[in-house]
Amino acid sequence: MIELLTETAISEPSRIRGLEMPWNRVMGSTEGPAGAARALGPWHPQEFMAECVETVPEAGGMMTFVFRRCDGAPLAFRAGQYVNIAFPVNGEDQDPVDRSYSLSSSPTQPWTFNITVKSDPAGLVSPWVHENVKPGMVLDMLGPVGAFHLPDADRRARYLLLAAGAGITPIMSMVRTIHSLPGQADVVVLYHGAEAGGYAFHQELAYIASVDSRVKVFYSLGNRSKPEGWEWLSGRLTAAMIDQVAPDANGRQVYACGPEGYLNTAAELLKKVGVDDTSINMEFFSGDRQTLLEYQEELALAADIAEEIAEEIADSAQDYYESQPTAFGLYEPGYDAEGTLTATGLPLETVDPDAPRSEDGSSGVGEEPGSSDASSFDTVGTGSLTLSFMRTGINVRVDPDEHILEVAQRAGVRIGANCKEGMCGSCKVVKLSGEVEMNHQGGIRAREIDAGKFLPCCSTARTDMVIDA
Ligand code: FES
Repeated sequence: MIELLTETAISEPSRIRGLEMPWNRVMGSTEGPAGAARALGPWHPQEFMAECVETVPEAGGMMTFVFRRCDGAPLAFRAGQYVNIAFPVNGEDQDPVDRSYSLSSSPTQPWTFNITVKSDPAGLVSPWVHENVKPGMVLDMLGPVGAFHLPDADRRARYLLLAAGAGITPIMSMVRTIHSLPGQADVVVLYHGAEAGGYAFHQELAYIASVDSRVKVFYSLGNRSKPEGWEWLSGRLTAAMIDQVAPDANGRQVYACGPEGYLNTAAELLKKVGVDDTSINMEFFSGDRQTLLEYQEELALAADIAEEIAEEIADSAQDYYESQPTAFGLYEPGYDAEGTLTATGLPLETVDPDAPRSEDGSSGVGEEPGSSDASSFDTVGTGSLTLSFMRTGINVRVDPDEHILEVAQRAGVRIGANCKEGMCGSCKVVKLSGEVEMNHQGGIRAREIDAGKFLPCCSTARTDMVIDA
């Protein structure tokens, strides 16, 4: 009989140094590799339609939705990024509701991609998603977005990945990505959950940790008492716990994702154990995924990447454009050989409130302009321009350099907002008249702008305005 389970020691694989994403070399190549390979470059958020092809129940009340792009192209993204998805929660004839969800799959398998959604019974969208998104459903998407992601190349690749609850989704993408790549890496995952049976992906994480010596996974049971047989850690995140799982935390890049309280604690504790601010990358989750990124750092990172790519493009602009799979009609870089990749937003035009809004007929306006008279509203604030918020019934005076969201919220206008940087799309409102200057980062679609919508978090007023909010 052949003995399968032997104690024979198997030596470690021999590996190249560090990690490198597949597109890194492809984009840097001067040899002009195939266009399909270049499609892996995750540089620009794109608008595309995707079809759900599979749903996979996960532990912890989560569900993975597997999609493929309807145009047949791969989805280029970086591990940790997210997509904005328009869900027809109120029916096909109503405006969809946008939500951002992290991609939980690995970009090294780009022909399908996953989002993993935790159903929050109090949420508007996540229960609907669980109930209604089924194989065959096609949704409008925009992405990839977000600067919370692994670097494209890292010669050290020493990471501490901290996740709490649904915050595991972008971390899972990172783990899957690292596992799929050759190269030296040293990864510690510390995953906090509320109950023993509630750790999404635990079987896959256990498998990866068992076959990939670069990855170590630890679990901790929040502040719950340990059930019988629980062999992992227990309790909330502490400095001692970080020391226990990663005594060399201060030599690692830390990626952390979870609810706000958890991340605030993590930030303090990481400092305590000597991790430098510049090595900490965080992304906030709460309920339906909300995106509050460490924007300053991330935008700086994005600017570096933009500069790098702009140089490449300046060197070989024609090659670059020719290499794009135009047959798909997907890539619409917002720059040219002279320009940079910085998202500057699409030019806005004033929309005539009486004119038909969009090809699909949706105006997103619940109330016809002119049905209320802004001259009867209270006026608050100081500034040279007036914003009239028709639903709230208030006029707000602003200066041309003030971001509209900030002053509106200060004046009590209810506009939801997550990222406040023009990325997530959650603050989108309709402009009934007037002009704005918008500097978004991919959080709004061109046809939405055509339909008179804008993102007040990253817009300033150029003229007096009337706004449907
Ligand atoms: S708050 Fe995210 S786009 Fe405005």
